[in-house]
Amino acid sequence: MSLALFDGALAVVTGAGGGFGRATALALAERGAAVVAADIDLAAAERTVVLAKSLGAVGAAYRVDVADADAMEEFAAAVRADHRVPDIVVNNAGIAVLGPLLDTGVDDWERILGVNLWGVIHGSRLFAKQMVERVEALPNKPDKPNYGGHIVNIASAAAFAPTRTLPAYCTTKAAVLMLSECLRAELAGHRIGVTAVCPGFAKTGIARNGTYVGLDEAGQERQRARAERGLRLRNYPPEKVAERIVHAIVKNKAVVPVNTEAHVLHALSRVAPSALRAIARIPAPLG
Ligand SMILES: NC(=O)c1ccc[n+]([C@@H]2O[C@H](COP(=O)([O-])OP(=O)(O)OC[C@H]3O[C@@H](n4cnc5c(N)ncnc54)[C@H](O)[C@@H]3O)[C@@H](O)[C@H]2O)c1
Repeated sequence: MSLALFDGALAVVTGAGGGFGRATALALAERGAAVVAADIDLAAAERTVVLAKSLGAVGAAYRVDVADADAMEEFAAAVRADHRVPDIVVNNAGIAVLGPLLDTGVDDWERILGVNLWGVIHGSRLFAKQMVERVEALPNKPDKPNYGGHIVNIASAAAFAPTRTLPAYCTTKAAVLMLSECLRAELAGHRIGVTAVCPGFAKTGIARNGTYVGLDEAGQERQRARAERGLRLRNYPPEKVAERIVHAIVKNKAVVPVNTEAHVLHALSRVAPSALRAIARIPAPLG
């Protein structure tokens, strides 16, 4: 794919301090985009910007907690004031809460809903508003379906497949998938594209940063180590997910499963949902 593909574009990526977010920011930077890297961990976002600059891109780092409505309002306003309306927004920041529903407390639900769902809602509505305003002010709108901008929301293969191991995580990701489908329908008339990206397991920091409910600290640590080992063994690099994200923007894809298990789960959810219900009873590898 051409390295000048996004020359002149401005891309905002949340959770850009590591994992898919960093890989996506760099894939976009490599293709000419200026990158706004946002993360709750400012130092990590700054490291991403240093890497983007080493690829010849322009970049800026921001600290933002995507779950915080006021902070996201300020962040979106700052992006517009300091740069301009973005062309690409990747709502990527996310966390994992693992373990049975009956052990998942209200605090756990609020934390994961805040980051995984509200974070995507805030990023989608605030930047979509800016994109709509910009495109509607143009005298002529070229026919390209995402001429006005593109929003990518990172869901997960967990959006297709129920499992006893990840009830809270699956719930947030299914919601992100539906949110993205609805938004895509709403924004199509404004020539703004929306994609839900649904990766399977990949080697990032998500397992290390996860919360394992219903366990004491020692049990959590054991599960964390086990989940990290699982992702290491699966060995699917975040850079491959980033390449699929780039492709999805170029092709204006609606839903993009990434890697083998994501494709299998997506297909099963359509043709054999009862098989998925049976699989849901088996503890998933991450647990
Ligand atoms: N790794 C996988 O196997 C996998 C599979 C499917 C989907 N996903 C999704 O991909 C996305 C990225 O996850 P990852 O695997 O790269 O994880 P990661 O833990 O490596 O990276 C997540 C990044 O988000 C940041 N972050 C966390 N909470 C935040 C908040 N409140 N505000 C702003 N930034 C915050 C972290 O600091 C970190 O830099 C998530 O939405 C995750 O659910 C991951």
